[in-house]
Amino acid sequence: VTGPPSSGSQQPDSILVQHSRGSYPVIIGPGSLQHLGDLAQDRLTGRRLAMIADATAYALYQEGRWGRPVWTGETLTVPPGEESKNRETWARLTDDLLLRRFARDTGLLGLGGGVVGDLTGFVAATYLRGVPYLLIPTTLLAMLDASVGGKTGVNAPLGKNLIGAFHPPTAVLADPLVLLTLPEREYRGGLAEAVKHGAIADSEYFGWLEAGVDAILARDPPTVTQLVRRSVEIKAAVVSEDEHEGGRRAILNAGHTIAHALEQGSRYELSHGEAVALGLVAECALSERIGVARAGLRERVETLLRRFGLPVRLQTAFDSAALLEVMRSDKKNRNLQVHVALIATVGRMHQGTGWTTPAPEGDILAALSGLGPGD
Ligand SMILES: NC(=O)c1ccc[n+]([C@@H]2O[C@H](COP(=O)([O-])OP(=O)(O)OC[C@H]3O[C@@H](n4cnc5c(N)ncnc54)[C@H](O)[C@@H]3O)[C@@H](O)[C@H]2O)c1
Ligand SMILES: [Zn+2]
Repeated sequence: VTGPPSSGSQQPDSILVQHSRGSYPVIIGPGSLQHLGDLAQDRLTGRRLAMIADATAYALYQEGRWGRPVWTGETLTVPPGEESKNRETWARLTDDLLLRRFARDTGLLGLGGGVVGDLTGFVAATYLRGVPYLLIPTTLLAMLDASVGGKTGVNAPLGKNLIGAFHPPTAVLADPLVLLTLPEREYRGGLAEAVKHGAIADSEYFGWLEAGVDAILARDPPTVTQLVRRSVEIKAAVVSEDEHEGGRRAILNAGHTIAHALEQGSRYELSHGEAVALGLVAECALSERIGVARAGLRERVETLLRRFGLPVRLQTAFDSAALLEVMRSDKKNRNLQVHVALIATVGRMHQGTGWTTPAPEGDILAALSGLGPGD
């Protein structure tokens, strides 16, 4: 028996995310889930632990599909899906913890995608006025986006993420091996945000994504590790500079003004990642139209998204006036004008005023019509 095992036990990477009250590590690496027990000991020392878990993720964890489950303890499961991210689930989870007599020395572990991450964070922010928590994201989107930035919360009938708190985790553990069980559509959705990260802040990363499409789609663990790492670095750099929004954090909304309208307009038949892909295409077209970007930007971004298997055109007719109406109520707007975070060139945003630019409605409609079938 010579040498180290060839996989599963590499020293994981760690990235430090800074925030106003301190910092926390995001630990990334194939097999890093095997360090969950140690990490909980280290970051939640002496605490009585409870896990809040997505029911599907928890079953995979327990069955040993992601390796031997090293941490076992009291666990509260949540039915999978966005429908669980509400005040009713928050009430049930907090009541359950109270009934089990969890006290001030509680430490929470959140296992699952962004839904469980946001919920666990909000339970942690509010339980006995706040307890620490650790996140174990199990979707690509949760690893490279939702676990970084400290935003927690639940949805309300009048809109998504309207009730919440800022409460960063004490550590994040991202193991790319768990992504091997993730449904294809969920995996590709996460890639839309990685493309966004390259397009808004790092042309080298964007080029790396272009060169690595096959390995990325094959979910090659070292490749996925690098991808998560670079995306987390980019998001962490942006949010640590502008924690509560108002400045450069707006660049993370690239593609999202139109994406949110499309998500709502499709009654959520389009997933978030699919809507982001379409939103990026349309907003790059908008950048070109209003002269913020040179011709060619939309083409390049669209090509990469298409190679990742993401939609770049809508197959059915859509009501652009209704989409515009949704955009009129976007929280980035000022002076009754639709404001969009626009990409200037791959790797750089247009600064505008506060990193968004007012866009004439005629140009938005024209950019949307480019998404129509048979363009
Ligand atoms: N806090 C933030 O900054 C932030 C940022 C982006 C998104 N979000 C939130 O994240 C949520 C979306 O997160 P999501 O896309 O991870 O969705 P999700 O949490 O609903 O998970 C998607 C699906 O994948 C399943 N799943 C999870 N891990 C799996 C695995 N490894 N193998 C097989 N199946 C698995 C889940 O059961 C679920 O059905 C939204 O509520 C969004 O608002 C938050
Ligand atoms: Zn997004």
